[in-house]
Amino acid sequence: MTIETGDRTVVVTGAAGGIGAAVARRFAAAGAILVLGDLNAVALEELAAELAALTTVHALTCDVSMPAECENLMRTAAEKAGRIDVLVNAAGVWTEGPTEATSEEQWDRIIGVNLKGMFFCCRFAIPELKKTEGCIINVGSEAGITGTPETAVYTASKGGVSLLTKSLAIELAPDLVRCVTVCPGDVMTPMLRGQARDFGGDDPKGYLRQLLASYPQGKKARFITPEEVAELIFFLGSPAAAPITGALISIDFGTSAGYRYD
Ligand SMILES: NC(=O)c1ccc[n+]([C@@H]2O[C@H](COP(=O)([O-])OP(=O)(O)OC[C@H]3O[C@@H](n4cnc5c(N)ncnc54)[C@H](O)[C@@H]3O)[C@@H](O)[C@H]2O)c1
Repeated sequence: MTIETGDRTVVVTGAAGGIGAAVARRFAAAGAILVLGDLNAVALEELAAELAALTTVHALTCDVSMPAECENLMRTAAEKAGRIDVLVNAAGVWTEGPTEATSEEQWDRIIGVNLKGMFFCCRFAIPELKKTEGCIINVGSEAGITGTPETAVYTASKGGVSLLTKSLAIELAPDLVRCVTVCPGDVMTPMLRGQARDFGGDDPKGYLRQLLASYPQGKKARFITPEEVAELIFFLGSPAAAPITGALISIDFGTSAGYRYD
């Protein structure tokens, strides 16, 4: 399928991460101009240098949990690239553990990045997206549509993303601005590797094995790749996806489809 992308400007937050970098590479391969934001300055610079061989790249170190930094990222896009056609909100952080052991600091960090940060990136991109009839693609999660034990803060943040998406889709529809959320299951990225390391006790590989054990594919289960998520996001950001807005699109090997009887 040929999808026109050249001359369009795509803003990606969390661009230095597993999914964000795959998204940036996919849009760069199609010739889109990129505006990349991430908290990790070193990894962001490396990615920007790699992609500069393919397209025009503007990179900005930023903390999306600070609304002023979200505003600055969108202003940079408007001033340096002249427009925003697609905003991909991929910045995110993970925590897990019993709710009764959860601190206010954990709550503030996860909600601050995953939900508040996403909201304010949308908020400051909207005036530009209205000019281009552009779109917002949020990286939500399977955890935004199903509950799991000991992940209440993360699922609260991603559940917020799901309904933020639906409300924005309706609010922005008269301006032909779309808003969708992709809901991945387990994607093999630094986040998932960090989960296994930080929460897998003395058996990080066992942590990952346990995740796969719940997949409907059984012994044939595998993790999703960041490139598979990026391909979906690339399609959703294309004119061919014009009728798709307000949708929560699962990419999870069916793990959110229903209860599995063992
Ligand atoms: N990996 C998975 O299994 C999985 C599954 C479902 C959803 N997700 C979601 O996908 C998105 C991307 O995750 P990933 O797996 O690529 O993780 P990742 O850790 O590889 O990338 C996340 C990126 O976000 C950046 N970031 C963190 N806090 C930030 C902040 N305050 N401001 C700006 N940037 C910040 C990090 O530096 C990192 O580069 C996240 O929203 C995550 O919740 C991931």
